[in-house]
Amino acid sequence: MLKDKKIVLGITGGIAAYKAVEIASRLRQAGAEVHVIMTKEAREFVTELTFREISGNPVASDMWTPVTQWNVAHIALARLADLMLVAPATANIISKAALGIADDMLTTTLLATKAPLFFAPAMNNNMYENPVTQQRIAELRERGCHIIEPASGHLACNVNAVGRLPEPETIVAAIDQFFQGAEMLRGKKVLVTAAGTLEPIDPVRFIGNRSSGRMGYAIAEEAQQRGAEVVLISGPSALKPPSGLQRLVRVETTAQMREAVLSEFPDSDIIIKAAAVADYRPKVVAANKIKKNNAELVLELEKNPDILLELGKLKKSEQILVGFAAETQNLLEYAKTKLEKKNLDFIVANDITKPDAGFNTETNLIKILSRDGRIEEFPLLSKHKLAAIILDRIMMLRQ
Ligand code: CTP
Repeated sequence: MLKDKKIVLGITGGIAAYKAVEIASRLRQAGAEVHVIMTKEAREFVTELTFREISGNPVASDMWTPVTQWNVAHIALARLADLMLVAPATANIISKAALGIADDMLTTTLLATKAPLFFAPAMNNNMYENPVTQQRIAELRERGCHIIEPASGHLACNVNAVGRLPEPETIVAAIDQFFQGAEMLRGKKVLVTAAGTLEPIDPVRFIGNRSSGRMGYAIAEEAQQRGAEVVLISGPSALKPPSGLQRLVRVETTAQMREAVLSEFPDSDIIIKAAAVADYRPKVVAANKIKKNNAELVLELEKNPDILLELGKLKKSEQILVGFAAETQNLLEYAKTKLEKKNLDFIVANDITKPDAGFNTETNLIKILSRDGRIEEFPLLSKHKLAAIILDRIMMLRQ
């Protein structure tokens, strides 16, 4: 997948900079066109000459030296890149990139490019685990950047801990996998529902739930990165839509979500219903604000249609339908019943009573139940990682 891909490799000033030599070499051997940008600090660890020879291209590092090959070097490289990889990525470059600081060739190129960005952090474990660094990494992730997580092992500061640059082979494999993934859903329409629906009681109040939309938004983002045409149908959510999302349909009530889903469903190849749908709605929506005149207030609720149940009945054999089950008890039993009753290809079950799992969290703890009775359990993972796992499982269904 790396053949003829134009990769801009940013090298920053960490002891692992020497490993970037092998990264550049492997990328080139795999057929990629490699352009190296070094920071001033990186040049203290490794020489430009090495990278010029390994990449077969001039090395960019100083903004001010006239470069003959490009008009404006950082803009030219930013435009040319199919992908940018910063390896090793120091705490400094991570924070600068997250904040949009552009004070040298590498940071200006990072800011000017529209190419996918990969960072491979490598640093002392305390620096890596520092909440400041973690927050910046989370910000980069939120903006769609990819983080190749550091390995654990011997660090230059003579401790055994997390912070090592992963082996060049692993980094190159991650890039290769990305290009593979970017093609996998090309030509497929993926319909994702996210966040909770809400049901009005009067012009001011509503019945709602705690869903933030994070899981569904992460799935939409991942599907888009894999080349799919994505339609995200979302209940109210404070999240920023994934960058570059083709279509976002905002709804409030279950009835609106149903209408939007049914109109997109017929030509969708993959449908993932991550939304927390309100099962009931007030029978009567008061035209005016309800006053607190009585000691008790009784709201009569009526049942909403079960959208997923309806989709399960309409589903054609080539369509893939995935549902979610958020439960507080009997997780597997309830999830299995929903999988069968709603005619799903698989169901993602999560026990929302577990810490850091379920609604309004960055992470989730899930089990995937398949039609053939298989149950896969996963450890506590970020919703972004889980989105990738869910899409991997969907692709496996079609192999
Ligand atoms: N769902 C839906 N329409 C509804 C309710 C749920 O499409 N009216 C979908 C959700 O998007 C989710 C799945 O069904 O993918 C499971 O939701 P859940 O509320 O757990 O299912 P219910 O069948 O409503 O089960 P329960 O008996 O627990 O209420």
